Amino acid sequence: MCTLFFYMKPYWRVMLVVLLTILIVTATGLLGPWLIRAIVGLIADGGPGQAGSLLWISVGLAMVYVVRSLGAAGVFHYSHVVAFQVCRDLRDAIHARLQTFSPAYFSARQSGDIVTRVVKDTLTLEPVIADAVYGFVTSFLLALGIMVILIYLSPVLTLLALAPLPIAAIVLWRLGRHVQPAFDRESNEEGELSAMVQDQVGGMRDIQLFNREAAETHRFIGLSGALARSQIRARQIMSGFDPVVEGAIGLSTGLVVLVGGRMALAGDLPVEDLVAFILYIVTLYQPLYSVVDAAENVQRGFAALRRINEVLEYEPEVADPPGGSVLSRAHGEIVLEDVCFGFQPDQTVLSGISLEIPAGGSLALVGHTGAGKSTLAALIARFYDVSTGRITLDGHDLRDIRLSDLRRNISMVQQDVFLFNASVRDNIRFGRPDASEDDVMVAARAARADEFIDSLPEGYDTMIGERGVRLSGGQKQRLSIARAILKDAPILILDEATAAVDPNTETLIQKALDELMRHRTTVIIAHRLSTIRKADRIVVLKEGRIADTGTFADLSSRQGEFSLLSGAA
Ligand SMILES: Nc1ncnc2c1ncn2[C@@H]1O[C@H](COP(=O)(O)OP(=O)(O)OP(=O)(O)O)[C@@H](O)[C@H]1O
Ligand SMILES: [Mg+2]
Repeated sequence: MCTLFFYMKPYWRVMLVVLLTILIVTATGLLGPWLIRAIVGLIADGGPGQAGSLLWISVGLAMVYVVRSLGAAGVFHYSHVVAFQVCRDLRDAIHARLQTFSPAYFSARQSGDIVTRVVKDTLTLEPVIADAVYGFVTSFLLALGIMVILIYLSPVLTLLALAPLPIAAIVLWRLGRHVQPAFDRESNEEGELSAMVQDQVGGMRDIQLFNREAAETHRFIGLSGALARSQIRARQIMSGFDPVVEGAIGLSTGLVVLVGGRMALAGDLPVEDLVAFILYIVTLYQPLYSVVDAAENVQRGFAALRRINEVLEYEPEVADPPGGSVLSRAHGEIVLEDVCFGFQPDQTVLSGISLEIPAGGSLALVGHTGAGKSTLAALIARFYDVSTGRITLDGHDLRDIRLSDLRRNISMVQQDVFLFNASVRDNIRFGRPDASEDDVMVAARAARADEFIDSLPEGYDTMIGERGVRLSGGQKQRLSIARAILKDAPILILDEATAAVDPNTETLIQKALDELMRHRTTVIIAHRLSTIRKADRIVVLKEGRIADTGTFADLSSRQGEFSLLSGAA
């Protein structure tokens, strides 16, 4: 709730105008029945002189309704103006927050669920802000005004009219308590459903390849049905709301007509007062109506708000140090001191890793699959923090360097290449959007990507599809090498960067990379040992530990882990 008020605060001026308009709407709402009371009074009194007054009152009555409807239109418009802007701000905030989360956050969650939070949950709050907040204010003011008028007309009848109110309120409150969990479940299932569709669309080829269409459809139908059941269940609870309010109005009117009618017959209550009384009762119960109307939105809104807050309040595992040291261009000396790491607290992926890479030096990491090579690279880019020990860059603990500064100094080709649904050119200059056309082409040439780019229908302007689906594996890899080359950072990390290209192309790219590595600190991870021949030092990782280390010549001459790997290669 605090979150909502925080995001509504910037719009207080418009909200103030809306509130003032609400006052007008409320006042005219109160005036309507009052004028009808006057008309009934005139008619009851009879007499020839009343026709003129009747005219004025009817004109007044019409005016009241015109002003009221104009006011209501204004409230509608501006409350939505505020509401949509608040939603936009929340959406932007949650999106900005996501940018600060480390991979741990994303690997623990489904991307479809995160998408739902950003796009859908934020919008669920719109009706809460636009309708519910103002609905409550209007209802409250209206109820207050009516109470004053009713007491003025007849305190006894007022007591009677109000008698069912507390009972109705209690019943509504009790029903409402069951609605909230139902809406929570509904929102979560919506998130799960989006996540499932996203997963299935991404893996459609595998679904078809493994003949899993029916099974996956069945899985979807299961969840989809569960969602429908939750939605129906929530509405079922809410369907109890209306009869409660209607019943209360009926009871109240009945009591008033019974007792007030007798009073009128006895001449204790003018007939116009009785008419006005009945008209006001319906309006008096309107707050309950708007509570009922708003309840659904509010409950859904709270469920959404909880999911939004989960993101906004999440503390990323890897965060910028307060007042962290500024690092412009690093020399590139990387030192790992007795580093241990596990993705979960009880897991050990790397342990006791100590190594030094002098500025401008090159280190190759080899080892069986799952040995922890990519994990080590991820630690150097500080996607995760070490569990114990430390990693330093130019003598600074990574945790003391501003993240943006650290990342600016690292060019990395990741094992799983990710490209964006943009043009070839924009993908290459992703890390340097201001790079010139020439720079882009030079990088593409070095990565041996120029040939295939030229053969694409629109060259550098070709859109490559989501995740680069319109490219081959080797083409994607070469684009990501070009991107890393263009970024021109002093530290270069290549994780199986050329694993998907043919040996000839690999040799050519290798030449370009050798050139690039000359002035840079480089970490190369490769299964094909031919690609690491020139590294200053090779570290053999085995089950998260350093099993051997030395130059290519050293290791080749020894009978050890390395010879086992080269045998396998
Ligand atoms: N996000 C993660 N959460 C939990 N465990 C993980 C995660 N990523 C990797 N692991 C585990 O950490 C270990 C090391 O993985 P890593 O990716 O570093 O291996 P690798 O040496 O790069 O292997 P490969 O040669 O196959 O790329 C593996 O056992 C893997 O299951
Ligand atoms: Mg790996």
